[in-house]
Amino acid sequence: MHIDTVAIILAAGKGSRMSGNTPKVLQKLAGRSLINHVITAVKQAEINNIICVCSSDSQSLQDEVRKIHPGTVFVVQKKQLGTADAVKAALPAIQGVMQKAVVLYADTPLLQPHTVNEVLSTLDRDTQLAILGFALDKPNNYGKILCDEESNPIKICEYADASEEEKKIQACNSGIMGFKVDVLSELINSIDNNNNKQEYYLTDALHIAVERSYKSRLLMVVRDEVLGVNTIEDLVVCEKIFQNRIRKKMLQNGVMLKAPETVFFSADTHIEQGVIIEPYVTFGNNVHIMDDCLIRSFSYIEGAQIGKGCVIGPYARVRMGTELENNVHIGNFVETKKVHIQSGAKVNHLTYLGDAQIGQNTNIGAGTITCNYDGVKKSTTIIEKNSFIGSNTSLIAPVKIGENVKIGAGSVVDKDVKDNTLVIVRPERIDK
Ligand code: UD1
Ligand code: MG
Repeated sequence: MHIDTVAIILAAGKGSRMSGNTPKVLQKLAGRSLINHVITAVKQAEINNIICVCSSDSQSLQDEVRKIHPGTVFVVQKKQLGTADAVKAALPAIQGVMQKAVVLYADTPLLQPHTVNEVLSTLDRDTQLAILGFALDKPNNYGKILCDEESNPIKICEYADASEEEKKIQACNSGIMGFKVDVLSELINSIDNNNNKQEYYLTDALHIAVERSYKSRLLMVVRDEVLGVNTIEDLVVCEKIFQNRIRKKMLQNGVMLKAPETVFFSADTHIEQGVIIEPYVTFGNNVHIMDDCLIRSFSYIEGAQIGKGCVIGPYARVRMGTELENNVHIGNFVETKKVHIQSGAKVNHLTYLGDAQIGQNTNIGAGTITCNYDGVKKSTTIIEKNSFIGSNTSLIAPVKIGENVKIGAGSVVDKDVKDNTLVIVRPERIDK
């Protein structure tokens, strides 16, 4: 645990290049907001002191951050005068309390915890300033890092101020920087806004540090890890990279993905080994799948706990609040929501189960519907073990079906059924 280290997350920018009403850093990547990704990386790097610099109208952002890390300190930057000004707003909260600070941008969601730790450990070795860079040979508008003959960084040139020669430099600034806090305070107070954008650039801290003989070092990472999200296109690129990362991890953990590139996960999807996932499956948030399940093609699963050896799909929609015990089958065109299904039960075709409990080894026939909503409120259906619900049955909730019951096909059941009963609710046939 880094007890004397603080992460300063800059999130006061407007994100004006992103359309839509959701603030940029609350946009989702694999089901998790961009800022959540950054905070998760910081926490995994074992940093618990987090300061988030935000603008004055940032209620939704603060609500989201508090959910992830309740201890976050929020600092408001009233006017967006630049990244140095944003860090300055955080200084009073850390001066004399913290020794090291790592500055991160809220829109850089792919950063890995070990990289944050590398930035911090660079500061250990007599170094006051660490810069995280990456190489890019295509034209781009990142800040460019100039180095001396010994590859020590000496200056960052922002794109808006760079000469044609400087624009060709391949070493780009990711924006992530580590500082010793006492030096950071001194440097921040010396930064001015004499540049083309008239902004206070945090990146100017570097050449000021060099002038004052502080030691700076440059760490390089692969570009994928520090991609910033400014546009919807950027978000799509990050999603692709992130999905590939999860797919790789799943395969390494013994989850069989028959066509990895067609399976989409959420950042929190948890799947145990021995699970086989056929092509074209999507996982929403909060899914846990136990060992040896088979998830067949075109299924959409979210908010579900799935026991060992279950078979789901093809074409199943498993929704929020679904809990399956071991060896349950959910077949094609079946939708489940807020149901608990005990082991060995089968729901194989064309069925809706909502707000229901299904007992062990019960068989739910094709086209069974739990009519759980009367237009005003939701009600529960309980079906106990070893029962058989005939095809095309409507169960008008609230209703309870006992053990070892058989319901004839096409029945509409609106009253409870006792154990060991055969029920057929069907108009008599008339042949003329
Ligand atoms: C910044 C870097 C640049 C780097 C690039 C990497 C500076 C001066 N430049 O440029 O060298 O290559 O990131 O993506 O730092 N923010 C505030 N308050 C402000 C201004 C910005 O909180 O007043 C926040 C933004 O919300 C964002 C981050 O700081 O999270 C970076 O700001 P942005 O305007 O995107 O900087 P770039 O121009 O991309
Ligand atoms: Mg940016």
